[in-house]
Amino acid sequence: MAQIKAILTEPNQTLRTPASPVPLEIINTPEFQALCDDMVATMYAADGIGLAAPQIGESIRLLVVGKDALENKKDLVLINPEISNYSWKTAVDEEACLSVPGVVGQVERHKSIQVCGFGRDGQPIAFSAQDFFARVLQHEHDHLNGILFIDRAQNTRRIKGSHAL
Ligand code: NI
Repeated sequence: MAQIKAILTEPNQTLRTPASPVPLEIINTPEFQALCDDMVATMYAADGIGLAAPQIGESIRLLVVGKDALENKKDLVLINPEISNYSWKTAVDEEACLSVPGVVGQVERHKSIQVCGFGRDGQPIAFSAQDFFARVLQHEHDHLNGILFIDRAQNTRRIKGSHAL
């Protein structure tokens, strides 16, 4: 049974700390697999679209993205993600973050990216991502480097309730 974790909010030192790589040999342990389940459950419980491990106080390079953002409609668990081949084309759109509640802002992101990393089965994965999916991945990947969307956003404003990353 997955546990719903508390989500850290800015200001918080863990949110601002670059996260450490996940040692590949721990991926298949029950503890790490339970953490993956907790991440997904916590994301959905908070009505989020994505979540990075530092947001629940785990300073490791692990992120999840909810199935609605994916073409295959499956939740994505991504370990030690790396982004390359940032497209020259960018797009500006509104973002929010579970760790910065009640704030939205316009963020410029690359329209397409190449992503590689490891799945929760420990196998390497690589794929390209476009548009909204690419935006979510760039947002979550920033969390692993201690960067919040408000660092990049323009025209931030306060709102009530939002679907957050
Ligand atoms: Ni976020």
